[in-house]
Amino acid sequence: MKLVKLIANLGYGSRKDVAAMFREGRITDAQGEVLYADDKVAHDVIRIDGEPLDPPAGMTLMLHKPVGYTCSTKDPGRVIYDLLPPRFRLRSPLLSSVGRLDRDTSGLLLMTDDGAQLHRIVSPKAKLAKVYEATLAQELRGDEAAVFASGTLMLESETTPLAPAALEVRDARRAALTLTEGRYHQVRRMFAAVGNHVDALHRSRIGGLSLGDLPAGRWRLLDAGDLETLFGGKA
Ligand code: URA
Repeated sequence: MKLVKLIANLGYGSRKDVAAMFREGRITDAQGEVLYADDKVAHDVIRIDGEPLDPPAGMTLMLHKPVGYTCSTKDPGRVIYDLLPPRFRLRSPLLSSVGRLDRDTSGLLLMTDDGAQLHRIVSPKAKLAKVYEATLAQELRGDEAAVFASGTLMLESETTPLAPAALEVRDARRAALTLTEGRYHQVRRMFAAVGNHVDALHRSRIGGLSLGDLPAGRWRLLDAGDLETLFGGKA
């Protein structure tokens, strides 16, 4: 791919903007030598204003989504893209979230611009378990784990029962719920079905991947090892 197109696709500007950046000498190699638009160089040697180029297409990242952010590009309020470099919103192919977390849910969110990777992660075949830590308005009554594990729980306005889900009770009003499917507002609706209400919800794990020490509002790229951890279910 020509350099102008490659850099424009990373969200640095229109092709016209990028062509102007070449003319202004802002695009260099790692040694500061000015590059020309028809040069053939590897992605990782390119610098713009001395800064390394953003990751090439085919990237997957994890975001520690805070409460109050929507998984959308258009919402008038805070959106997850506000937590990433502004250029990431302009990339082509588009960087999109792998599934969604509600505005009021925090925790591990994956984002990718790789369609095949996205399908691999959400595919029922991958059977990636998702772990949610729920804080509840009412004390647990005791039968929730059995109801959720039954494989017969039917949520309102659904036509098929939920797959069995594992509940691990932390204390009277806190529990971890492990799901292998992702229906709309599933965790909140499951607790509503057993007469409770979720006050706070946090996704701590997808497959084998957890947030580690990534603070709320921060992101990091996933490398091959992280992806192996994600699919391999290893800690
Ligand atoms: N279940 C919910 O209710 N909300 C989420 O954000 C994710 C799962």
